[in-house]
Amino acid sequence: MAMQLNLTLVEERLKTRCVGRNLLYLTRTPSTQDVARAEAKRGAPEGTVVLAEEQTAGRGRLGRSWVSPAGKNLYLTLVMQPPAERLRVLSIVSPLAVAEALEEAVGLPSRIKWPNDVLVGGRKIAGILIETELAGEAVKYALVGIGLNVNFDVGAAPEIADIATSVRRELGRDGSREELLAALLNAFEARYSEALESDAVFQAWRSRLETLGRRVRATLGERVVEGVAEDVDAEGSLLIRREDGSLATVEAGDVTLSG
Ligand code: BTN
Repeated sequence: MAMQLNLTLVEERLKTRCVGRNLLYLTRTPSTQDVARAEAKRGAPEGTVVLAEEQTAGRGRLGRSWVSPAGKNLYLTLVMQPPAERLRVLSIVSPLAVAEALEEAVGLPSRIKWPNDVLVGGRKIAGILIETELAGEAVKYALVGIGLNVNFDVGAAPEIADIATSVRRELGRDGSREELLAALLNAFEARYSEALESDAVFQAWRSRLETLGRRVRATLGERVVEGVAEDVDAEGSLLIRREDGSLATVEAGDVTLSG
């Protein structure tokens, strides 16, 4: 039988005003993104969290799937309503909150691979998928999907074993999903409120970027940019210096680190 999450433990550790105060806990669902979308459409309050023990059709970025076995990891979607001009804050706050939660709850030093993968020991431990519903210029809601590998035996999933990791793999023992979840929601709310007012969150995200200074290959559909990831601009876009000296601005896409 799969382990159930102890929600009382999570609640005891939760320090938030809004994030996670309305929490929907599901045993099994195709994707928490879809449940959260339905909740948002029905007017769910900001900070609503949909969490599942298992996803049968977990989604990743760029049309990929997210391996989501039962009872091992954290699969959650947050419903947020940022003002349109601060929408980009979510892709900075989310990986930062995951990285900070990993350090606080289980002591794992975590880095960020642009734009928002979380890495431990150079391998991916968490992924983030943000889906936005707009009404003209305004944001109706944004769905922040977070998948964090906690007690997953990565070796049992050969298709990702080389590139992925989990808390269990890094620590050599199981980690507490409850502590990780509470730390994540606490960090998310704290960093989100801070980001709406200051630049410190951007700098904290930037200083965790594994990508900077490395040779990279960025792809977005047909577009491929190769060079050295020099910096990020104020919008969070990646600035890549090509061999010929020109500078490319990459707003979205997938990046491979090559040196
Ligand atoms: C990625 O790295 O490609 C993003 C992975 C996002 C996975 C999470 S798990 C919870 C939420 N529900 C989904 O179907 N996907 C996100």
